[in-house]
Amino acid sequence: MTDIPRVVRIAGALTEVAPLPGAALHEIVRVGDRGLLGEVIRVRGQTATVQVFEETIGLALEEPVRVTGAPLEVDLGPGLLGSVLDGIGRPLERLAALQGDFLAAGADAPTLDPDRRWPFTPSLQAGADVGPGDVLGTVPDRNGEHRILVPPGVSGRLAELKAGDWTVLDPVGRLEDGTELRLAHRWPVRVPRPVAAWRTGARPFVTGQRVFDFLFPVAEGGSVAVPGGFGTGKTVIEQSLAKYAEADIVVYVGCGERGNEMADVLTEFPELVDPRTGRTLMDRAVLVVNTSNMPVAAREASVYLGLTIAEYYRDQGFRVALMADSLSRWAEALREIGSRLREMPGEEGYPTGLGSRLGKMCERAGRALVPGRPEREGAVTFISALSPPGGDLSEPVTQAAGRVVAALWALDAGLAHQRQFPAVDWETSWSLQAEGVAPWFAQHVGEDWPALRREVLTLLQRDRELREVAGLVGPDALEDADRLVLESARLARECLLGQSAYDAADASSPLAKTRAMAALLVRMLEGGRAALAAGRELGALDLTRARRALVALRDGPPAQFEETVAAARAEVEASLRQAGGAT
Ligand SMILES: Nc1ncnc2c1ncn2[C@@H]1O[C@H](COP(=O)(O)OP(=O)(O)OP(=O)(O)O)[C@@H](O)[C@H]1O
Ligand SMILES: [Mg+2]
Repeated sequence: MTDIPRVVRIAGALTEVAPLPGAALHEIVRVGDRGLLGEVIRVRGQTATVQVFEETIGLALEEPVRVTGAPLEVDLGPGLLGSVLDGIGRPLERLAALQGDFLAAGADAPTLDPDRRWPFTPSLQAGADVGPGDVLGTVPDRNGEHRILVPPGVSGRLAELKAGDWTVLDPVGRLEDGTELRLAHRWPVRVPRPVAAWRTGARPFVTGQRVFDFLFPVAEGGSVAVPGGFGTGKTVIEQSLAKYAEADIVVYVGCGERGNEMADVLTEFPELVDPRTGRTLMDRAVLVVNTSNMPVAAREASVYLGLTIAEYYRDQGFRVALMADSLSRWAEALREIGSRLREMPGEEGYPTGLGSRLGKMCERAGRALVPGRPEREGAVTFISALSPPGGDLSEPVTQAAGRVVAALWALDAGLAHQRQFPAVDWETSWSLQAEGVAPWFAQHVGEDWPALRREVLTLLQRDRELREVAGLVGPDALEDADRLVLESARLARECLLGQSAYDAADASSPLAKTRAMAALLVRMLEGGRAALAAGRELGALDLTRARRALVALRDGPPAQFEETVAAARAEVEASLRQAGGAT
């Protein structure tokens, strides 16, 4: 036998390779005759354990293994937008074109099209001193402009920078020390890209979903977990955010979910007209697809790939929204790999390092002053769905995520069953950043925003208490003031917090609309209270009329927003006047 490293053991996605002395952890190797892509995840003496990112069926013992000396990396450059990548960065379309409609294992398909030429306009000249993140120039891309950056870790004096039509492989410039500069550079996906300084965000991540913007807002750069049992609306939320949230760039990672959910995304996103540009959403989106039928190790890697692409656009100075559906499948992939490695398991078989890995992942989100000149900030907001078995939020992945995220948007099967969508349980949901972004809302949407929010939260809380009481003594035993609370809370759930993803007029709610609805609701509640205090009866308040006004506002055409608000206000005031509650 020679000393060529060979496969000595195969267990699903894991193989043992020997002799492989001195292999580095996370080094990429090519396994077997077909050169399956694998990653070293453990080294013991002469033997390395390799997780293979591709289907290992057909792999045989004794097949040779080739080392590459590099970790799992992705090419970052123009042409990423609009692409659909597998968990390790291969464009699905080009893979399919290369080998028919299935992914042949071991196939090489570069992330970025090597033949495409990009007209490069330099913004610096020879003689300039450059450092990491400096903008060398731009090329036009689907989102407008792609900024070409000096890669992290590279600095020196520019010897040459050439305008022209270049491919991502061509050198477009060079430093005096001979370092070549290109339109693209590679980056290891498991390593966070450096920032110059983290910023605490006072700006909210505006979602267009009233329940999030109004009750549980997060800052741009925040990380959010969205746990929910089967069919509670996680995917609909992730997709609504991708479509409507205020972000320059969307990175969507379909991680371990059913293929048909991802197929929806693949057919829907290109057809979706971006309200801001009038063009397809894919012009500012990158999709990473790793569905449940694809190998488990690539699923684990796919989230890091998504994070890296998101950071790359952050570094250009963009606001990026990163969605992962679902991180539970990522955690399950870790568990599966851990158990194959016979590692000592922690809670429910998940690896003991789960919490810290989730923490490190969320630390890659944030708002930052990015390296390089001209000075600029960018942000990655990270929204991950979680699929706790049975919707049980006390399970380990949800618990671990809850300790590292800025907000938890918990979905409830009961609400979904009542078709209260988004099925956000406002008792168990929270946001640590709601206070921090409140001044922004007060300044940019309406001074009364924070007060309205408090009123509605109090109303919901009171409603819960009253419903318990009513459950005991029967609703008839309640006083009019309490029944007003129940009625108002019902309206709050139905109109303010409820929002159909399938209603074109309401799928996304501008902040002005959210505020108008909240203000109307609170006006009705307070006017009603005044009327009752003046001795009127609840029956005299025409709540049906107020309800109609709110529904009209909710469902009204966005183009006639001003008129609809005015009409709705008039209706509510009329119903209060009738009851003698107007002030
Ligand atoms: N905002 C919404 N508006 C209207 N309907 C919704 C909304 N959210 C969810 N639904 C309904 O709930 C169904 C299930 O939603 P979704 O597929 O997002 O759930 P999920 O939590 O991702 O499920 P799974 O656990 O299977 O992945 C949708 O097909 C839709 O009918
Ligand atoms: Mg789903």
